Amino acid sequence: MKFFVDTADIADIKEMADTGLLDGVTTNPSLIAKSGRDFMEVTKEICDLVDGPVSAEVVALDHETMMKEAETLRKIADNVCIKVPLTIDGLKTCKKLTADGTQVNVTLCFSANQALLAAKAGATFVSPFVGRHDDNGFDGMELIADIRRIYDNYDFGTEILVASIRNPVHVLQSARIGADVATMPPAVIKGLFKHVLTDKGIEGFVADWEKTGQTIPTS
Ligand code: E4P
Repeated sequence: MKFFVDTADIADIKEMADTGLLDGVTTNPSLIAKSGRDFMEVTKEICDLVDGPVSAEVVALDHETMMKEAETLRKIADNVCIKVPLTIDGLKTCKKLTADGTQVNVTLCFSANQALLAAKAGATFVSPFVGRHDDNGFDGMELIADIRRIYDNYDFGTEILVASIRNPVHVLQSARIGADVATMPPAVIKGLFKHVLTDKGIEGFVADWEKTGQTIPTS
């Protein structure tokens, strides 16, 4: 399973990239607004920091302008992945861009039928939003399982990128289902490393080691 970080905060991205476990980055207009940075500038910086795909979202709602925006965005770097909304215009844009070899992430997916359409449009990634789905009384993980089943039925190559993840349990459930990618806020990624028994174990080993009065030579 690939791990993407869902942020436009450069310090957070650097910290995650330093773990060696980061496979890509997703941003959206809200995250760009939160960063307070210039969209083109911050996207370029992110693309230089990670080798994997960096999703940058178009903001137009019509196909023609989406294509023009995508044209600008894809010039930023080779690893830019154009993010388009799951609408008729978004999927028309997806079909055209992927036919040209450009990576496309179809975002704001809330139903298995929408995911089916995204795959038929040749999407590189589809982003079902599990947290927002749960918030509205639906079952986000049921959606991921449905999409997995449908994509496997037809051997679609579109990768399921689980988005709007709110906690480590979402990640665990996505991995069990066989989702391809999880994009997470930095706090959720950090949470994956944590276990109370790991901390307690380290505390015990350190205390016992100190009693030996020994050191391990480091040079
Ligand atoms: C995904 O690409 C989106 O940027 C993101 O996961 C949305 O998450 P939110 O529902 O926490 O805003």
